[in-house]
Amino acid sequence: MENNIIWHDHKITRAERSVNKNQKPCLLWFTGLSGSGKSTIANALDVALHKRGYHTFLLDGDNVRHGLCKDLGFSDDDREENIRRVGEVCKLFADAGLIVMSAFISPFTSDRRLVRKLFPAGEFIEVFMDTPLATCEERDPKGLYQKARAGEIKNFTGIDSPYDVPAHPEIRLDTSRHSVDECVDSLIAYLLERELITRKD
Ligand code: ADX
Repeated sequence: MENNIIWHDHKITRAERSVNKNQKPCLLWFTGLSGSGKSTIANALDVALHKRGYHTFLLDGDNVRHGLCKDLGFSDDDREENIRRVGEVCKLFADAGLIVMSAFISPFTSDRRLVRKLFPAGEFIEVFMDTPLATCEERDPKGLYQKARAGEIKNFTGIDSPYDVPAHPEIRLDTSRHSVDECVDSLIAYLLERELITRKD
């Protein structure tokens, strides 16, 4: 499509911002069912990184849907557009030199793959919250599973809308078997091992 819009590079590069901040930008993409622990673990990791002095930012589905994506619902097309927008925003935050975390159900493999492609190799870290549906439904923190089972909410992920299980996530966490601290420890260990962060405490 001819639209007369021409990309121009910024004077300060992503790499220069990264040096100034003394950290490597990356995106930890939390994906999983509602109630699987995405927001809880992403928030706990955010705190752990912040305490170590890292510059971070967290984008969360429920919050983003109050603003940037308030015009979107839960049809397949709307979820696709939700993830497309969020992926682009995550890239902007990473370009700004931040360690970014996102917590969206992001049920479709194709959408997650598109976000991955926005990032250099090794900087997109898919964190699959592999908590069983039964546990998520038992927790039902917002009472939404109950409404979905009663037919009051349509297209609810895991009930009458699909979730594509990630085939090759970088990290897999099950919050029915591991505590918040254990999950955060394994995320920190991964970041240290890949030299995305260096400060242990
Ligand atoms: S996504 O599928 O487009 O990635 P997103 O993470 O932004 O979803 O929003 C999910 C949150 O919206 C859930 O945690 C839940 O609180 C709420 N929600 C409301 N309706 C639905 C629905 N039909 N399916 C899933 N989540 C829903």
